[in-house]
Amino acid sequence: MSAKSGYEKSKEIAEDVPVIRFLQGAKLLGQVRLHEGETLAEHGELAGVRIPTNCTSGTCGTCMVTLIQGIVELPEILPPGLDDDLVENCARLSCIGIPLDDVDVDIRPPL
Ligand code: FES
Repeated sequence: MSAKSGYEKSKEIAEDVPVIRFLQGAKLLGQVRLHEGETLAEHGELAGVRIPTNCTSGTCGTCMVTLIQGIVELPEILPPGLDDDLVENCARLSCIGIPLDDVDVDIRPPL
C-alpha cells in the first residue's frame, strides 16, 4: 500500500506539468502551465504578462521574444517576421509560436 498522502500525489502531478515562464533579463514576470496548442502570446495573457502584438500572423515581428530554453515550434517556411539570422539568435514570434514543453522566454527580442 502506498504511504503517500493526497497532497504528495498532487504535488508530484503538478511538478510533471510543463511550465511556460516569461522573463525580462533575470526577472521572472510570470509563469503558467502549458496549454497544448496555444501560442506563447496566449500563454502570456494567462500568466498576466502582456506581450505586444500587432498582426498576430507572423508578419510584422512586433511580438518577437527570445527563447532561453525549451522548444517553440517554427513553421517549415519562415514567416515574413522571422529570418534565419533571427532564428539563430533564438528569436521566436509569440503570436504564432507554440511551446511544446517547459519553455523560458525573455519577452524582449534578441539584441
Ligand atoms: S504580432 Fe506580428 S508577427 Fe506577431
